[in-house]
Amino acid sequence: MVIHGPNLQLLGSRERHIYGDVTIKVINRELQTAARVCGIGLKIVQSNHEGKIVDLIGAASSSFQGILINPAAYTHTSVAIRDALAACTIPAVEVHLSNIYKREDFRKVSLTAPACVGQISGFGMESYLLGLRALVKLMSGN
Ligand code: DQA
Repeated sequence: MVIHGPNLQLLGSRERHIYGDVTIKVINRELQTAARVCGIGLKIVQSNHEGKIVDLIGAASSSFQGILINPAAYTHTSVAIRDALAACTIPAVEVHLSNIYKREDFRKVSLTAPACVGQISGFGMESYLLGLRALVKLMSGN
């Protein structure tokens, strides 16, 4: 399952000097193409709501084998999403379009990354594709 956090529906028009021109539609299309090549299915969800994301993570292990998540602003604020990821029995990989360690101080802390297997940050859309690749490897036990 792929989870896009808050404001990522605005990609393509939002702070383009930071996030570039790519839209969420294009990211999702590229992810679906990559998933097909790997022979896996993907459910992709975007939500602006912390509780909805907590619910999705909480229910994920009954239907999915892994989580690819860009928690967006909740990365830096959400103990609830961190706890949901920590409780989850399937692996999660965190991704960010921008390099959060090169930005404002408040973005340099990820509350959620320690509850994930790893984090990929700073490669634009490629962060998602690299994250998917890493997740597929984990799911296949390699
Ligand atoms: C982001 C980085 C976050 O700090 C920010 O709040 C976002 C996007 C990224 O993908 O670079 O919304 O997660």
